[in-house]
Amino acid sequence: MSLRPKARPPLKWAGGKRWLLKSIQELWRPYETLGSRFVEPFCGGLAITLGLMPKRGHLNDINPHLINFYNQLKSGLTANLKMEYDKALYYTYRQRFNDLIKQNKWKSPEAALLFYYLNHTGYNGLCRFNQKGLFNVPFGEYKTVTYMKDFEYYRLVFRDWQFTSTDFEEVLIESSDFVYADPPYDVEFRQYSSQGFGWPDQVRLAKWIKSLNIPAVISNQATDRIIKLYKSMNFELKFLSGPRMISCKGDRTPAREVLAIKVL
Ligand SMILES: C[S@@+](CC[C@H](N)C(=O)[O-])C[C@H]1O[C@@H](n2cnc3c(N)ncnc32)[C@H](O)[C@@H]1O
Repeated sequence: MSLRPKARPPLKWAGGKRWLLKSIQELWRPYETLGSRFVEPFCGGLAITLGLMPKRGHLNDINPHLINFYNQLKSGLTANLKMEYDKALYYTYRQRFNDLIKQNKWKSPEAALLFYYLNHTGYNGLCRFNQKGLFNVPFGEYKTVTYMKDFEYYRLVFRDWQFTSTDFEEVLIESSDFVYADPPYDVEFRQYSSQGFGWPDQVRLAKWIKSLNIPAVISNQATDRIIKLYKSMNFELKFLSGPRMISCKGDRTPAREVLAIKVL
């Protein structure tokens, strides 16, 4: 068991799986004891990784601004940007962030601080870009917003973790890895989810995981076609009821989550 204290995720991020922590921890524990590396190809807000606190980690996400933020934290980011919950300031910072994107200067400490501010101040913690790749989330209405003044803790936590930003299939896997894959949910009857992750990507992910000679687990919404897909590839399935409620025949029932487990 990891003796390192757990840290809170530094950002608001959709799809956090903290409620799955216990189940993932049970699967990860034997490999942690062996000294395995923990790999999350869809790391998002890091809810699971920061809950598990692996000694060694490879964390990847296709969102390059998210990964720049983590890399800057790892290098020791100083919170030297004025942060106040103010609508005019929000739009000034949003403009500045987009200027940095246009000038190709977004891999910088300044862009990381702006990203942090926009994430905490924008509508619902959304991270959305227009077709030109510019951030277009409106100001969020909150009572108050608290901003972190010191990121030093994350520099220490991230010290032995590596961050990359690629499509999941390009993540370089080593023989001693354990993979936890948390893709955007499959949304039945829709070709693409809000993050542009479609059915062909769900199939591509299942095949990729199957092809790796390492232990792994995928979590997903338990739609009929996802269950069929994972069963056809001989994953061991475990069902859980999630915290999200869905409308079902006029009723509100918890959405079912599935864990597709590959034990070696
Ligand atoms: C459900 S979230 C992960 C949440 C995370 N496990 C947690 O508990 O905080 C899914 C993530 O997948 C990323 N993503 C979408 N398509 C991807 C792809 N093709 N390759 C890698 N990451 C991708 C998104 O940017 C998003 O952050």
